[in-house]
Amino acid sequence: MAKDVIVACDFPSKERVFEFLDLFGSSGYKPYVKIGMELFYSEGPQIVRALKRRGHQVFLDLKLHDIPNTVERTMRVLSDLNVDMCNVHAMGSGPMMRAALEGCSSTNDSRPVLIAITQLTSTDQETMERDLLIKEPLANVVSSYAKNAQNAGLDGVVCSPLEAREVHKSCGAEFLTVTPGIRLAHGEAGDQRRVMTPRAACEAGSDYIVVGRPITAASDPVAAYEYCIEEFLGND
Ligand code: C5P
Repeated sequence: MAKDVIVACDFPSKERVFEFLDLFGSSGYKPYVKIGMELFYSEGPQIVRALKRRGHQVFLDLKLHDIPNTVERTMRVLSDLNVDMCNVHAMGSGPMMRAALEGCSSTNDSRPVLIAITQLTSTDQETMERDLLIKEPLANVVSSYAKNAQNAGLDGVVCSPLEAREVHKSCGAEFLTVTPGIRLAHGEAGDQRRVMTPRAACEAGSDYIVVGRPITAASDPVAAYEYCIEEFLGND
């Protein structure tokens, strides 16, 4: 099964993202990249096309959450960009996730991997209870949302690495766990609440780790990426 480090390119402009990716030029690495709302909303679809032309795999992280019809139509547009992975919020529920899959499948023979956000890794038990009025233990919420995503036909979920093992237990080894909330040993957690190191995420069964600031804000981003690859993939 594919296992990889995805670099979250949370930059405000294409110039900044290319400047960042150019650092990898002579390293032999061509990182799998994640484009989020900031870059996509500022640069539009051409940023995805440009990254694909440069040979990167692209996870387009727009976290759709709307009525099923809108999500299906939007997903059709996004899969036309030939992204490798895209996502919706599991909180949009089963009909919305099924519509998303329908939208992904309707244009391309090879559709993007479609995953669902369970609970954001910046959300902890206290926030979930206070603001979302969800009183269940967070791990149960994540597993239950993962099961809903699987029943809707999705390929996996975004969750904290702390929940990856539990998700695999309830949804099987083939169901993907894509895990942000990665911090290098001794690094700052920042706004993330549920965090793990790349090695611990690997041991917990994460299939893909998503790493942003620990790489993008490092004094040597290529070395930080290499460190993540070595910790996460080991001798794979
Ligand atoms: O900088 P950092 O490593 O915290 O970046 C994590 C990335 O993963 C960000 O782009 C964030 O939007 C994304 N993400 C997340 N938690 C989720 C889903 C996506 O942190 N549940």
